[in-house]
Amino acid sequence: MIVRWWHEDVELTVPGAPRPRVFVTRQLPGDALDRLRGEAEVDVWPDELPPPRERLLDAVTDADGLLCLLTDRIDGELLAAAPRLRVVSTMAVGHDNIDVAACTRRGVVVGHTPGVLTETTADFAFALLLAAARRVVEGDRAVREGRWRTWRPSFLLGRDLFGATLGIVGLGAIGQAVARRARGFDMRLLYADPRRKTEVERALGVEHVTFDELLAVCDFVSVHAPLTPQTRHLFDDAAFAKMKPAAVFVNTSRGAVVDEVALHRALETGRIAAAAIDVAEREPLPKSDPLLRLPNLIVTPHIASASVATRERMAALAVDNLLAGLAGQTPRHCVNPEALDGP
Ligand code: GLV
Repeated sequence: MIVRWWHEDVELTVPGAPRPRVFVTRQLPGDALDRLRGEAEVDVWPDELPPPRERLLDAVTDADGLLCLLTDRIDGELLAAAPRLRVVSTMAVGHDNIDVAACTRRGVVVGHTPGVLTETTADFAFALLLAAARRVVEGDRAVREGRWRTWRPSFLLGRDLFGATLGIVGLGAIGQAVARRARGFDMRLLYADPRRKTEVERALGVEHVTFDELLAVCDFVSVHAPLTPQTRHLFDDAAFAKMKPAAVFVNTSRGAVVDEVALHRALETGRIAAAAIDVAEREPLPKSDPLLRLPNLIVTPHIASASVATRERMAALAVDNLLAGLAGQTPRHCVNPEALDGP
């Protein structure tokens, strides 16, 4: 069977051979799954919640391809349960839920969805920056709770973005998109990233500093770093202690980049002024979590890429990546192209 994949025609199966089997761990928006059903035998987990581990392991036993989400752990145990698996395609840019090295050893290519969510995620990071700085959620709560008694000169005073200094931790595609937005607010822009990007610095007027310098100088700090062993708990007690007491902290990357106990301490003691997080160390954040009792913290449920158009684009790209992997090709956005090199 020949399928159209981006701009190439790709041989997916030998004519007459059985169609590949694919397991998809959730219903997806748009028509991506219909397209997939045209090319493969597709089994879709029907619930809103992720498949329990045992069900996932069971579902992949005869799967050639797996389309997963960031909520699904893809590790050695899963690969051992899936002897036919050739491709894992995640509908996310982050792939810290996937043991990529184990996939590579098994010759399983891993696709992900960068690019299509960059602007939407940057919009949301900016929404959180503004909401935390200008106390939008506290204001809404005050109105609903009958605390809007009159106009008051000192009611819910926030902090200005315009003219302030924004520190971007991780100047990848999303960090750069945030920088472009911040320019429109006349912000001074600093970034910390182990990889210096001199061309981007020139193009966007962003200045490279060390992580510690960024913490010490910035009024706003926005995190756009992937979760790796190096970035796990990058924001701990020591990091928050270096920030300005008036600083506003925003995280739209991965929860575990932040030590949440340290964040709680920093917000409760006024070590920093406010924070907004779209991600948590443990998702979903339990209703009883002490973070949720802090008035100066906004929490959203991992929705930075959640616009109608972007989620459809992510689903379409995840299906493209999956089809390419099933056809023995390197997915357009592949984390481990070397998986196809063979042992
Ligand atoms: C969402 O967090 C993603 O990685 O796409």
